[in-house]
Amino acid sequence: MKKRILTGDRPTGKLHLGHYVGSLANRVKLQNDYETFILVADVQALTDNFRHPEKVREAVREVVLDNLAAGLDPKKVSFVLQSAVPEIAELTVYYANLVTVARLGRNPTVKAEIQERGFKESIPLGFFMYPVSQAADITFVEADLVPVGEDQLPHIELTREIVSTFNRIYGKTLKVPQALVSETPRLVGIDGKAKMSKSLGNVILLSDPPAIVEEQVMRMYTDPTRIHPIDPGHVEGNPVFIYHDIFNPDKRGVSEMKELYRQGKISDVEVKKKLAVALNGFLDPIRKRRAEFEKNPKLVRELLDDGTKRARKIGAEVLAKVKGAMKIE
Ligand code: TRP
Repeated sequence: MKKRILTGDRPTGKLHLGHYVGSLANRVKLQNDYETFILVADVQALTDNFRHPEKVREAVREVVLDNLAAGLDPKKVSFVLQSAVPEIAELTVYYANLVTVARLGRNPTVKAEIQERGFKESIPLGFFMYPVSQAADITFVEADLVPVGEDQLPHIELTREIVSTFNRIYGKTLKVPQALVSETPRLVGIDGKAKMSKSLGNVILLSDPPAIVEEQVMRMYTDPTRIHPIDPGHVEGNPVFIYHDIFNPDKRGVSEMKELYRQGKISDVEVKKKLAVALNGFLDPIRKRRAEFEKNPKLVRELLDDGTKRARKIGAEVLAKVKGAMKIE
């Protein structure tokens, strides 16, 4: 029997290059070797978008299409809609007993998100405890592996703790999952900020048309110490070259460009133009696949129905085991 992957996305908008390098690339690579579940985490998305249900509702379809466009095979992977899985909500309630408020408060990803969202002292409880619900996401299908970006590691760590605590108190019931972080676990934003993120407005979407990609690239931050094109430039930590290293298949060309840049013999504009070409080359097949899948308006609905059903079958068994262990069967 194949081992299982569960990973997922919050449907708050279309997916971007950061999602791709952090998790989508690994999903695509591993879909043949693992039984793969892709969770569209609409309940989690609502924890900080509860005033905008229409936004979450619309993004569900986009997120599925982005995953397909990235190269996931609809015949191989199961797409699961979180809100259609009551087993996850139920597990969340039981797991909440096993986690302290102080432990949740130390989660660096949640801390950063609280800052970004300006919650201050008014943190919605649902948002504060979403990592507990994420533990339920991962364990309800007994996932072995969770391919994620670096920012998700604290959540996987918490999941492992919850599982261990559960097994210690109630007897060995649940499987301890493992995180898988990609070689490029995090992509800087086009503004050079540590993370590409829609809430920071520094993204390139997988579905952006070529002209927008070019515009975004021309707006990118480069070497702040370089005033004139003939100044020697810095390559290390320069977002434009970070992107070249990841997305430009012409490795020799990139290394020549770096040399010229260091010597002040190539302008930022030229380097960016080449990046736009490379990125559009990378995104073209993704955009083409998306256009193909979009032709069938019923596809997303059918995939979600089907995948959710398959996952819930497993979830029902896991929940029965959990309740048995807790003597509430
Ligand atoms: N928290 C993830 C994100 O923001 C989305 C997510 C929800 C997820 N449930 C998950 C990721 C379970 C991995 C496993 O992108």
